[in-house]
Amino acid sequence: MSHIKTILVTGGAGFIGSNFILDWIAETGGKVINLDKLTYAGNLQNLASLENKPQYSFINGDINDHKLIEGLLTSHQPGAIVHFAAESHVDRSIHGPEDFIHTNVNGTFHLLEAARLYWTKLPGKQQTEFRFLHVSTDEVFGSLGPDDPPFTEATPYAPNSPYSASKAASDHLVRAYHHTYGLPVITTNCTNNYGPYQFPEKLIPLTILNALEGKSLPIYGDGRNVRDWLYVHDHCEALRIVLEKGRVGETYNIGGKCEKTNIEVVKIVCAILDELKSESNHAPHASLIKFVKDRPGHDHRYAMNIHKIEHELGWTPKESFDTGLHKTVEWYLGNLDWVEGISTGAYKKWVDTNYKDRAAL
Ligand code: NAD
Ligand code: DAU
Repeated sequence: MSHIKTILVTGGAGFIGSNFILDWIAETGGKVINLDKLTYAGNLQNLASLENKPQYSFINGDINDHKLIEGLLTSHQPGAIVHFAAESHVDRSIHGPEDFIHTNVNGTFHLLEAARLYWTKLPGKQQTEFRFLHVSTDEVFGSLGPDDPPFTEATPYAPNSPYSASKAASDHLVRAYHHTYGLPVITTNCTNNYGPYQFPEKLIPLTILNALEGKSLPIYGDGRNVRDWLYVHDHCEALRIVLEKGRVGETYNIGGKCEKTNIEVVKIVCAILDELKSESNHAPHASLIKFVKDRPGHDHRYAMNIHKIEHELGWTPKESFDTGLHKTVEWYLGNLDWVEGISTGAYKKWVDTNYKDRAAL
């Protein structure tokens, strides 16, 4: 149970946002206002179980719409804003960076402005307890070599893609609104999430769905780039704890303590599919792996030191990669109608844009 009765969530129809809202309502029973522009990545199907629930309302809108946000804040009086809304895919940011600046930089600015005006007028206790939680990424810290120590909260920013640069800019704006105006912000920087409802432009759902259809499993470069993987429900729990106990003005690293090369990840997914779909003509699924042209500027390795959140707030990841991936593959197998719903013409066009110039190596 949280002391916060109502939250405004941005980007709640996306992958992490929708998992967060489902868990928040289940865990706290609190009220959620979900503001989402419903880009290609937003899907109200994720939240179908909440339709008609009195605790939940959805607003179709843009975080750049200052007036809309001011109106929502005034009428719903949330105790916190949880800011997920973003353009989130590195490859898309390489093909078209402009939307990333519009949403991640300008949008965060407009949201902060509206939050500041609202927060300034709140009465004493409400003002003290208000939180602006900004959900960010490990990618702002740049890329690690194989033997470098993991990123800490004090690692200097060195973003390498238009996506991570736009997230870094948003992190700086959030920091400045605390330093200059005293807005009670907290920023979290998290590693790669996986789990239910993830759009299949990202490595794990792409691998699952391509393998089921017998399509090739594209691995950029030599497949030895390393990511740290966190089950999405563990991330959502960390965010609830940060909202409850995190210190204002601080940043917290969140991660899964689970570094894997991309080739390892894809092979584990294939092994799970071999087990769950042993009758498939496409088994062994690892035979579908194809090494393709690398992502430009591909960061070699991300890893997070999560000592601060573990020791200060008492959060640690619970799900193992093995159990989390099993649950994830099972979720996709059990929700093929959800997959059908998102595999629109627009998704097929993206697959063509991203993979057409990536001949097998
Ligand atoms: P996502 O792409 O699945 O969802 C983003 C959501 O934001 C979508 O519902 C979309 O419609 C909405 N949105 C986009 N532009 C908007 C705008 N201008 N106004 C209102 N809504 C808008 O993203 P995700 O993977 O759920 O990531 C959520 C947040 O977490 C992002 O800020 C991302 O940078 C961060 N993050 C993601 C990961 C990850 O592994 N997915 C890891 C660390 C941090
Ligand atoms: O690290 C956190 C970040 O994780 C988040 O901030 C981003 O929002 C999220 O999209 C994710 O970024 P990545 O670029 O790491 O995720 P993606 O799933 O696109 O790629 C994971 C790794 O797999 C990366 O090294 C690129 C590689 N890859 C990806 C795709 C789509 C492939 O080898 N083949 C592919 O087809």
